[in-house]
Amino acid sequence: MSIGIPVERMDGRAKVTGTAPYAYEHQVADPLYLHLIQSTIARGQVTAIDVAAAEALPGVAAVLTHHTAPRLAPDAPAEFRALQSGEIVHHGQVIAGVVAESPHIARHAAGLVRVTYDARPHDVRLRADHPDLYTPDMVAIGAPADSATGDTHAALASAPFRIDQTYTTSAMFHSPIEPHATTAIWADDLTVYEASQGVHDFTALLAQALGFPADRIRVIAPHVGGAFGSKGLARPHAVLAALASRMTGGRAVKVALTRRQMFALTNHRPATVQRVQLGADADGRLTALVHDAILSTARYEEYVEWVATSSRNMYATPNRRTTHRAVRLDVQMPAPMRAPGEAQGHFATESAMDELATAIGMDPIELRIRNEPSADADTGLPWSSRNLVECLRLGAQRFGWAGRGRRREGDWLIGTGVAAATLPTWFKLISVAYGPSHAAVEHVGNGRYLVSTGASDAGTGARTALSQIAADALSVPLSDVDLELGDNALPRAMLAAGSMGTMVWGSAIVAAAGEFRRLHGTDPRPGARAEGAMTGNPHTERVTIDSFHAVFAEAAVHAETGEIRVPRLLGVFDIGRVVNPRTARSQLIGGMTMGLSMALHESAAVDQHVGAVVNNDFAGYHIATHADVADIDAVWLDKPDPYANEMGIRPAGENGVIGVAAAVANAVNHATGVRIRDLPITPDKLVVSRFAR
Ligand code: MOS
Repeated sequence: MSIGIPVERMDGRAKVTGTAPYAYEHQVADPLYLHLIQSTIARGQVTAIDVAAAEALPGVAAVLTHHTAPRLAPDAPAEFRALQSGEIVHHGQVIAGVVAESPHIARHAAGLVRVTYDARPHDVRLRADHPDLYTPDMVAIGAPADSATGDTHAALASAPFRIDQTYTTSAMFHSPIEPHATTAIWADDLTVYEASQGVHDFTALLAQALGFPADRIRVIAPHVGGAFGSKGLARPHAVLAALASRMTGGRAVKVALTRRQMFALTNHRPATVQRVQLGADADGRLTALVHDAILSTARYEEYVEWVATSSRNMYATPNRRTTHRAVRLDVQMPAPMRAPGEAQGHFATESAMDELATAIGMDPIELRIRNEPSADADTGLPWSSRNLVECLRLGAQRFGWAGRGRRREGDWLIGTGVAAATLPTWFKLISVAYGPSHAAVEHVGNGRYLVSTGASDAGTGARTALSQIAADALSVPLSDVDLELGDNALPRAMLAAGSMGTMVWGSAIVAAAGEFRRLHGTDPRPGARAEGAMTGNPHTERVTIDSFHAVFAEAAVHAETGEIRVPRLLGVFDIGRVVNPRTARSQLIGGMTMGLSMALHESAAVDQHVGAVVNNDFAGYHIATHADVADIDAVWLDKPDPYANEMGIRPAGENGVIGVAAAVANAVNHATGVRIRDLPITPDKLVVSRFAR
């Protein structure tokens, strides 16, 4: 058996020795370099654009503007519609690009382009009383915006214990270590080396935008340096690299976004304002749960994230209401960012649960256990496997939850907090959005097998885990398997999304291996080949297949300065079977670090006057680094889910993020008595609260 063994990352050596090529690094003959120019207003029109000085600079091959760029298909995806008109819909939008013999010349020439605008008033501020709030038809995952059962008004009015609070979260930026980059060559056919979470889905978007046949587009992405959702959709730089290649006679064109450019051009996690109302009886049973979410979307394209949907089945209650309201602002379209919706939603609800536990005088773990539902209240279906209570109990034991007195050590106030969470499995993405995933198995001779699928390893370790799945499915040692991915010439596979990659592509590999053995037996001839597909999960008609976890945090807050440290963080995960404990652990503690970052650091400083995020670099936009992470641990129950797939595995990675922000907020509250409902929890908020008390 290979599954369950902590195999080292197969591409680890290539990555640390610098031989694993990323999108910008593929060796191509005689490349040109594209530098993008961004708008300095948030709304309006480009009225004039003077490119004469740029064009006159030696080494400049072309300047792309909305006057010169080739036309895209009218139904091009919104984020691909670059340089199709002079209209400005958000600050930092691409308004031109310079193609030159070196990146330095391109960047210098970009500075010589003079742009005149007709600016119009913009609005980039999300607020709960915004006059233009509206109810979307659906939230972006395809669920209804609103849902209600029972009478929440009456239940809240008569509840002996009530919480009614508003929580806010900032816009956040994915910030993968590899900036978005493309190398495009569009001579006759089009070849694109792209930092992409899904080569086939990217191909389809590109074909649609360019009005060019998908079977004449080759997309290659063997290595991707982190994505977190930001490399899943269409981005303008990629289509512009293709257009630039075409405009320069089919020469290769490379483009890499700068870190600053990424803040305006690669989407963001939407900011939220969430009101949570809980009613409970004296035994801690929820009599009502109301979760109303308000969030931002773009004026030019709708994306309304599913912030409150997990409140539809996380806890048992007879009276429940969840709503989503959105407002169209003059910002770039928000988009999924690791644990989209769940991350913001759980911060609100799991903070509120902690507030309720305090109000009742009940242990917050016990409160959650008392409200454990027997079935999925949203669908009425039973769970395939829900072991949240075990996560809470095991975590309490390992963390040393019992007798959690707050204490003071010198100037530091120390407390602990807990949060529970769920991550749905979005099988719907397969049936509705992205379609089946395929894999192929070929015997290449000498007992060796080549397994291929158009999957993408965005840094998760998918390449390694899929090899392990393939070895077991073929009943051969891991060393007899070679795996190819990240190329649209390979069998069609869905993009890495919803933490479902290993699960979905793994099922396709299992199907291909089964088909291979059926056709060719155990002693195949060289060249013998078979394909298989993962087309969906028939069990979703009868069971709900979600993941669960509990997070425990210790917070230390400096009594004078409000400085916050998190000395300990423990996650206990109910994610089915784990294919590779090493890469899974890495995913989970990485996710938890991201959650810690959301709790304490990440915040968009929006200049309302300019209409832009002004802390658009890593000096101003803080993300957690090594010094912030002390004792962080992730463990799992290792209970295979018999309904999820043949391997018994459920989505893993994004679980790491979800519960952390609330666990930290709850620990800070336990330590200090101060409740921060506005992320991130920064020292200024704690100090101000102290004086305000
Ligand atoms: Mo993800 S945020 O489902 O790419």
